[in-house]
Amino acid sequence: MEIQKNQEYVVDIIDNGYDGEGIAKINDFTIFIQGAIKGEKVKILILKVTKSFAYGKILEIITSSKSRNTVDCVNFSRCGGCTLRHINYKETLNIKRDIVKNCLYKELHKNVEVNDTIGMERPLYYRNKLQYPVGFDKNGTPVMGIYSQRTHNIIEIKENCYIQNEKCSEIAKDIFEFAVKNDIKPYNEATNKGILRHIVIRIGIKTNEIMVTLVVNNNDFNNEKEFVKELTTKYTEIKTIVKNYNNKNTNVILGKKNEVIYGSGYIYDFLGEYKFKISPLSFYQVNPLQTEVLYNKAIEFANLTGEETVFDLYCGIGTIGIFASAKAKKIYGIEVVPEAIEDAKENAKINSVENTEFFAGEVEKILPELIEKRNISADVAFIDPPRKGCDKVTIETLLKIAPKKIVYVSCNPATLARDIRLLEEKYELKEVQPVDMFGFTSHVECVVSLVKY
Ligand SMILES: C[S@@+](CC[C@H](N)C(=O)[O-])C[C@H]1O[C@@H](n2cnc3c(N)ncnc32)[C@H](O)[C@@H]1O
Repeated sequence: MEIQKNQEYVVDIIDNGYDGEGIAKINDFTIFIQGAIKGEKVKILILKVTKSFAYGKILEIITSSKSRNTVDCVNFSRCGGCTLRHINYKETLNIKRDIVKNCLYKELHKNVEVNDTIGMERPLYYRNKLQYPVGFDKNGTPVMGIYSQRTHNIIEIKENCYIQNEKCSEIAKDIFEFAVKNDIKPYNEATNKGILRHIVIRIGIKTNEIMVTLVVNNNDFNNEKEFVKELTTKYTEIKTIVKNYNNKNTNVILGKKNEVIYGSGYIYDFLGEYKFKISPLSFYQVNPLQTEVLYNKAIEFANLTGEETVFDLYCGIGTIGIFASAKAKKIYGIEVVPEAIEDAKENAKINSVENTEFFAGEVEKILPELIEKRNISADVAFIDPPRKGCDKVTIETLLKIAPKKIVYVSCNPATLARDIRLLEEKYELKEVQPVDMFGFTSHVECVVSLVKY
């Protein structure tokens, strides 16, 4: 039976995929159905057919899963954020564990035991960083909000987002209102004209310090002084306001140049007992409470005695290395964003950590240099790359110096599995621990212990 577009079928949902979508099979042909849950029977309409799979949409839920939740968010159907919001939280944790399992199976061709996902105590308002695009809606009216799924159409957020910090949501609304009132034109992607592109707000959850970053196309920001005064008078938590210049026609949110228009240009937050300085361009985990859980697991996997030389690769502002510093002899951190390395150096200082050294540059370039020119090697390597995983050179270098342990922190189980397959040449996969950093979204964070044979 050939699957036809616009045809209706009744199917059983046999699994959930990497974006949380339901998966069904008709005569071995795969259908992806957004919003369907494993175990359900649903009537679907086929929307699109490709050579190897099709997309369908639910017309009717014939048998509903016990895990199905009534969705509490008015933005759910249009927003691409919480794709698992229709599933009860506990079940989302099982889905995430299974996503990791499936990714590992695909690459390693064996069943790997994956621990149950460590969930959040309260999976609400957990994000410490908001980034809303500003633009025009279909009618040409200025709008701030979120991109609707797989598009660059901005949809207005009605009511507050359930995963953003509430104070940040409130401030974002005020900034947008000020922009509209003062004729600060939203950026137009099609013409590359206009001024305000994104509103980015970060909060130190433990310090309550807030940093506002306005991503602008040019310097034409009307009534800037009034803006700063109004905002900082109303919100005394705002410690700094920064204009970030981005005039490129790109999906990347932040440009390279910052101009501080209020305060110091950075904020602080605490992770565990350590204080961290965070600058606008530096990466900082978006869910700090779960970050502590994640890092503690990473340190546990490393099982340090105080004698080890340790690499902290893709170190950001030095958080993992500084977290591990009391239990290691020496930490070397490498990170590509120079501002983050400046933060890392200062973070070591403000925490009186004296056994760290940080280097700015690509891991694939700096790591071989450190090994060859300075004869540095490591007993343990923490690696925490971006979504695309490790560069080939990095994997080869790690295999060459072969630290006793590698603790791999990953936000993308597909590239994690690929890299583990490569590392298996010399390493045994000991433990896989998913930690829920991004509740109700389909994103999965994992920490993995690899031990040299
Ligand atoms: C997932 S973050 C982890 C940061 C840090 N370990 C933490 O937990 O906050 C990945 C980091 O890798 C950096 N990065 C991306 N590509 C890189 C590369 N080729 N070499 C070094 N750092 C890189 C990013 O700037 C980012 O700070």
